[in-house]
Amino acid sequence: MNKFYSFSCRLYQRALYLASFFLHFHEPKLLSGLDCSLELPKLIKKQGQLHPLLITDKGLYDLGLTKKISEAFLKENVSLSIFPGAVPNPTFECVDEAYEVYENDNCDCVIALGGGSSMDAGKALLIRIAYPNRKLSKFKGILKVHRKLRPLYAIPTTAGTGSEATLAAVLVDKTNKDKFQIDDPKLIPSYAILDPSYLTALPRKVIASTGMDALTHAVESYIGRSSTKKSKAYALQATSLIFENLEEFYEEPSNGIYASNMQLASYKAGVSFSRAYVGYVHALAHSLGGFYNVPHGLANAVLLPIVLEAYGKAAYKPLSELAKAAGLKGESKEKLAKAFIEEIRLLNARMGIPNKLNVSLEQGDLRKLALHADKEGNPFYPVPKEFNVDELESILKEALS
Ligand SMILES: [Fe+2]
Repeated sequence: MNKFYSFSCRLYQRALYLASFFLHFHEPKLLSGLDCSLELPKLIKKQGQLHPLLITDKGLYDLGLTKKISEAFLKENVSLSIFPGAVPNPTFECVDEAYEVYENDNCDCVIALGGGSSMDAGKALLIRIAYPNRKLSKFKGILKVHRKLRPLYAIPTTAGTGSEATLAAVLVDKTNKDKFQIDDPKLIPSYAILDPSYLTALPRKVIASTGMDALTHAVESYIGRSSTKKSKAYALQATSLIFENLEEFYEEPSNGIYASNMQLASYKAGVSFSRAYVGYVHALAHSLGGFYNVPHGLANAVLLPIVLEAYGKAAYKPLSELAKAAGLKGESKEKLAKAFIEEIRLLNARMGIPNKLNVSLEQGDLRKLALHADKEGNPFYPVPKEFNVDELESILKEALS
């Protein structure tokens, strides 16, 4: 990247970083432990709310995952409405339908139970409630939400997205197929409920890819230049937890302790990147996901070691610190950083994640994907070393060949 553009990117990132200290980056209150979600009716009552709307997806609903929480609400005499219509990359229609149930049933708070899609839909619903007459597309971008939102209780059913802790909601505008993000600290859930009982039937493939998504959040937020003392501490803790538990959880999905530790890792990594951003791994993964439906966690897992290697010595110091958190030893920062990258490759391999992505690109699409990643990453992400479109294209080529 040319020096002048790089300098202007750094100035922009610095300005954002300084401005961020004036924003209210609250962390969700945490409830954790086996069956802790059954405490939710009492908690909601204590908060003065009377009737939540639980938003989830059809798959989880059909699997009966809302059953025990419904029973807990019944037992506590608290009304609960359920909307099982959250779809991946929620559309405005999906949020509108949820809003209709919320209004008709006189609800006063929202519970999101599921993976990223339920969380995204739940966050978007909060905006819909606060701004009933404004199109959701008007909130695209950062800091567009100015009204107070209703409380959101987030119950993740995977360990990786960290969405229960983040300020982002991803939506799709079906009219122009625009997949866009709304970023606002007001979207950070009020409570994150980490109940490992929802995780013990996860397929191994999902455990592996979502776990690597969490690791990517921790790594990208740690090595970026906009990290804070707290975001760094959380990223280090998440990294330790992931290296201590992910492979074990993959081997033994029904083990509640591994599930619980991975949930905590995902949450901590979520808090960390919500404050300190992600980097080019995510920018490239979003490109591949948007154009070729490559699953997010898988794309991150394959891209992570390639991008870290491409950063070279600009990332040796923070990577050496992450290496120590992962339990690795080495005589120099360079050796530790390289050992960390190698360990990521080995972890992928041990969980059956390939080192290349199997995508047949249409002619000219490599450039298109790189341009899309450049648009997302530059000048926004405070990465250790900036890449231009050509450099992003050669990273993609390496991941795909
Ligand atoms: Fe991610």
